[in-house]
Amino acid sequence: MNLLTLVAEPWADYGLVDSGHGRKLERYGRFRFIRPEPQAMWAPADPNWSADGDFIAASDDEGGGKWHLSRDVPRGGWPLKWEDVRFTAMCTPFRHLAFFPDMAPQWAWMRERTGEGDQVLNLFGYTGVGTLALAAKGAEMVHVDASKKSVEGGRANALLADLADRPIRWIIDDAAKFAAREVRRGRRYDGIFLDPPKFGRGPTGEVWRLEESLPSLIADCRKLLDERSKFLVLTVYAVRMSALAIGELLNQAMAGLGGRVEVGEMAVREEARGLLLPTAIFARWVRD
Ligand SMILES: C[S@@+](CC[C@H](N)C(=O)[O-])C[C@H]1O[C@@H](n2cnc3c(N)ncnc32)[C@H](O)[C@@H]1O
Repeated sequence: MNLLTLVAEPWADYGLVDSGHGRKLERYGRFRFIRPEPQAMWAPADPNWSADGDFIAASDDEGGGKWHLSRDVPRGGWPLKWEDVRFTAMCTPFRHLAFFPDMAPQWAWMRERTGEGDQVLNLFGYTGVGTLALAAKGAEMVHVDASKKSVEGGRANALLADLADRPIRWIIDDAAKFAAREVRRGRRYDGIFLDPPKFGRGPTGEVWRLEESLPSLIADCRKLLDERSKFLVLTVYAVRMSALAIGELLNQAMAGLGGRVEVGEMAVREEARGLLLPTAIFARWVRD
């Protein structure tokens, strides 16, 4: 299996400006933020960064910490745009900005394969930028996330993007439970997109542990695809896991469905020097 590198290039409303010494400087619209980034082990291009906000990690660095924001940064968020999709960026307590810019190449790849009336399932869909990117291409979307707040964010983004009238089902549910229910209902999809966390909980306490829960979820996703289906995209981050491992999982699960599996790393291109900051791994099945 060859490993690909899928690179998120800077766009008008987002860029990784510089990185190094365990931190990164990014622009989100008119604001710049500094966040911890353990993989940026190199030296930054510019030693003097100025920003509108800085996320200071807690001393145990278990993901906790606090934003230090200038007065100008709107606490309730501000609008951004990716291609034709508008959505809200916001400094969240989880150190990110309420969407994941490194996903852009996956959204673009799925959009190329998505047409009017296609049925697409987005599991662990968060604030829905991926859902809206495909809805804008005419897909009928099913968006599932365990968090009421995330789904509310998705609905608000749909309004902002002028896509609230599109066929999008916003569902608060446990991803694995929902997929199993869809299998029992005999549903099928043209495409499936899943971006599971390392650990998570469903709305009624269902436990999601990536290594333990992923194989059966992928097996259910396989049952939701058929000879007319076009793609399945799986992205994984913040775990000690190789792209080869999730590639082999998909290879085995998709056997008999035709098509092929590709795998690799996802990265964001730094604007200062063009270097690549890795963010996640992916495996995706496609019928060419
Ligand atoms: C990091 S986000 C995915 C990012 C999103 N795909 C994007 O690009 O914007 C992971 C999401 O998984 C959700 N989640 C965690 N455990 C879950 C579960 N058991 N079932 C459904 N969603 C879950 C969280 O609420 C969170 O929104």
